Amino acid sequence: MRIKGEEMITLKDSEFRELTTYMKANYGINLIAKRLLIEGRLANMVTEMGFTNFSDYLKFVFKNASGNEINILINRLTTNHTYFMREAEHFKYFGDKVLPYLASSSKNNDLRIWSAGCSSGEEPYTLSMIIADYFENEKSIWNTKILATDISEKVLEQAKNGIYTEEAVNIIPKYWTLKYFNKIKDGKYQICEEIRNEIIYRDFNLMTGIFPFKKKFHVIFCRNVMIYFEPKTKMELINKFYDMTETGGYLFIGHSESINKNETKYKYIMPAVYRKE
Ligand SMILES: C[S@@+](CC[C@H](N)C(=O)[O-])C[C@H]1O[C@@H](n2cnc3c(N)ncnc32)[C@H](O)[C@@H]1O
Repeated sequence: MRIKGEEMITLKDSEFRELTTYMKANYGINLIAKRLLIEGRLANMVTEMGFTNFSDYLKFVFKNASGNEINILINRLTTNHTYFMREAEHFKYFGDKVLPYLASSSKNNDLRIWSAGCSSGEEPYTLSMIIADYFENEKSIWNTKILATDISEKVLEQAKNGIYTEEAVNIIPKYWTLKYFNKIKDGKYQICEEIRNEIIYRDFNLMTGIFPFKKKFHVIFCRNVMIYFEPKTKMELINKFYDMTETGGYLFIGHSESINKNETKYKYIMPAVYRKE
């Protein structure tokens, strides 16, 4: 808590440059237009930690060998807003077109889906419920585990717990709540174990030079993650996604993000949906 009368510390130009350069170089996130957001999200915490300026705080963070302080910084500066069924047309297209195509063309009943920048889990859980509905009784003969990754450990923890407020769950069809959620204490809902076990959560930075995955994916969702990325960073990432997509597979991005058709080998299918042919 700030002591009464004490000034809120402000970011000096050099500190702002140091922090934004670090975030861009390491996580692709461009916070140049977000000076007030940075100050607003960090100032109290930095003061509470006993620092009187951002320079000393940043030195402390960058020296911290365990990486814990970097994690806290990332948790504060990333925008994790998400919700079930977000950009619902994507899920409709996924259930109506993509799944039937993948199911009929699969040789070994193995679907590989990646939710990149999954935040607190609403996106991969929505996909998993659609998959469970689609395969019904045949689900057990399919391997449909979803890889879900993020750089924020805080949201990954929330995602793994799979606990959501009634308000968050109200968005989804009622029969999903009954079928795939358990009501727990404080009016909250927890996604059932069967669906939770379908998601493999991993801490993964999309700026990683070489992706470590052994197999390509049939579908990649990377929605509302690249909004703050520089065009060059974004294109490099999309090219890496392309290399990691199976032929005939799909890439879904956010509706407010776009790919210049001349710069990608993906074929445009519909707004924010692309395919590798
Ligand atoms: C706004 S949420 C989007 C969640 C979900 N995909 C959706 O569309 O609702 C963006 C997520 O991307 C993650 N993110 C940002 N930069 C990242 C990076 N370099 N590597 C991995 N995840 C990143 C953030 O931590 C955040 O949880």
